[in-house]
Amino acid sequence: MLISIDRLLSPAEVRQLRRSLDAAPWTDGAATAGTLAQGVKRNQQLSDGLPLAAELGRQILARLAGHPLFVSAALPRTIYPPKFNRYAGGGSYGAHVDSAVMAVPGTHQQMRTDVSATLFLSAPEEYDGGELEIEGPFGVQSVKLAAGDLVLYPSSSLHRVTPVTRGERIASFFWVESLVADPTDRALLFDLDQSIQRITPLLAADDARLVQLTGVYHNLLRRWVRQ
Ligand code: NI
Repeated sequence: MLISIDRLLSPAEVRQLRRSLDAAPWTDGAATAGTLAQGVKRNQQLSDGLPLAAELGRQILARLAGHPLFVSAALPRTIYPPKFNRYAGGGSYGAHVDSAVMAVPGTHQQMRTDVSATLFLSAPEEYDGGELEIEGPFGVQSVKLAAGDLVLYPSSSLHRVTPVTRGERIASFFWVESLVADPTDRALLFDLDQSIQRITPLLAADDARLVQLTGVYHNLLRRWVRQ
């Protein structure tokens, strides 16, 4: 399931992030790829230890924490501190699946990656190419969103970034370990939650049908939460 979240960041917030990122020390992204991914990854990243990356990452996490659509879709238990990358001059990232388990920087904790996220920080007009292509059950979906928009997709999916042939594509990316590991269960909960959200304004808060439906949501979640 692909879910896009429009305007996670406002245009002013994107501009502020971009000002910081334009002056940041970028390094070769292949250094942090897994053994197999190293051969297909041609981009630049900010290193995890950089205080600037940590500060910008915290700003993004603050937005995510208060975003009902993100919480409903990802049901986050752990969010990897957001990373940043830049593609230019033909840079690309060939087809790969993200590592299943990652060490959370700055902790002794490991996390399972259930949901992958890309937050676009360049406007589509700023660059050619740079589509995020995600393979799913209905074929390949090509994603290129407005600056400030976020896409969530299953970490288990094969995906790639096509070569950036003009301009530069700057993005933030991170992973989520979800409270609900199974993507089908998570998608059902998301659909149920979204329909409850849509009918809530039409009914009284103590409407018995709404109370029951909300109970079904929580009792399904209780069954499917993995400790
Ligand atoms: Ni990836």
